[in-house]
Amino acid sequence: MTRDQSRTTPATITDKFGRPMRDLRISVTDRCNFRCTYCMPAEIFGERYEFLPRPEILSFEEIERLARIFVGLGVNKLRITGGEPLVRAQLPALIERLSAIEGVEDIALTTNGFLLAKMAADLKASGLRRVTVSLDTLDEEIAKEMSGRPYGPEPTLEGIEAAVAAGFSPIKIDTVVQRGVNDHTLVETARYFKERGHIVRFIEYMDVGNRNGWKLDQVVTAKEIIEKISAEFPLEPVEPNYYGEVATRYRYADGSGEIGVIASVSMPFCGDCTRARLTTDGRFVTCLFASGGKDLKALLRGGASDEEIIAAVTGIWAARDDRYSELRESNTDWPENGDGPAGRKIEMYQIGG
Ligand code: GTP
Ligand code: 5AD
Ligand code: SF4
Ligand code: SF4
Repeated sequence: MTRDQSRTTPATITDKFGRPMRDLRISVTDRCNFRCTYCMPAEIFGERYEFLPRPEILSFEEIERLARIFVGLGVNKLRITGGEPLVRAQLPALIERLSAIEGVEDIALTTNGFLLAKMAADLKASGLRRVTVSLDTLDEEIAKEMSGRPYGPEPTLEGIEAAVAAGFSPIKIDTVVQRGVNDHTLVETARYFKERGHIVRFIEYMDVGNRNGWKLDQVVTAKEIIEKISAEFPLEPVEPNYYGEVATRYRYADGSGEIGVIASVSMPFCGDCTRARLTTDGRFVTCLFASGGKDLKALLRGGASDEEIIAAVTGIWAARDDRYSELRESNTDWPENGDGPAGRKIEMYQIGG
């Protein structure tokens, strides 16, 4: 990938710290076919758990309208998230609409891969540029434990193969690392995807939401992760691809590809955070660890004009001073798993990471 200069140009709007709004992450459903222990623990999200009712969820028309407005304000990258986005009916039809918006330079999807084998070709045809697949381990039993489902890694690996066959390249793999759970399987994960030319990004376990029982001692730091992998496959640091990139990149010294680490706990990257988020029910959120969000659906359904929505979004972004991960780093007395500084946090499955 070449360094994308267009992403460093000044944005139309900037926040209190001068950060432009470049990315819009759109959650298209709060449902998921997995029950990852760190996101939707099965004991809480059981059969009777009530997800959002259909009328509360933004329609494709509403998402497209908002996406056009955000692109008009400087966003050039869209990422489709969930819950699990592939459980939303007719998703390729939405991607087709979004990829046709002038000014969208990149459109990516984050998925657990379970339905990818079935959908990869349609997604490619819809104009999707990139897929990122979440997979925490290749170990059958640990995969079942972490995903909260009796499947193991195989369906996800088949999904990745289907994505390759459909022409997606490079493919990124998101691997959440939890001490004492999957940290002893990282080198195997690295090896497997190194051999296939995919980019694994190891993610430090984060205190997103309020329900996963996060504890600081469960975090394996990026430094430790790099040391472990480097001991087996020597690594060298690489420059970011673009301003505000979340992952810190390393390449294999033998020239066989690269990995990334997402060190939001040990090395927060709020300083150049360009990400805006849209929840499934149409709230505009300016930080992964936010509490509320501006209800844009109410504006849309209340008959607001584009100008009124633009004014709302611009005002909120201009006032944005979020830097949760940086504050968490210096406030070690914050509850390990509970409310953030502004109250109860949004859950990961409502906002998609
Ligand atoms: P590329 O476009 O491929 O560079 O990926 P990306 O920057 O869009 O990252 P991706 O969506 O794959 O994010 C990977 C993971 O990083 C997410 O699932 C989150 O766990 C974490 N992450 C992404 N954005 C943020 C953020 O703004 N803050 C924090 N703390 N973590 C984030
Ligand atoms: N910490 C780190 N990563 C997380 N993800 C979900 N919850 C957490 C958490 N608490 C990851 C998912 C997926 C991406 C969307 O975010 O595993 O890879
Ligand atoms: Fe589903 Fe992703 Fe949450 Fe796992 S992390 S439960 S795959 S939304
Ligand atoms: Fe951005 Fe909030 Fe993540 Fe910091 S914690 S990088 S401000 S989303």
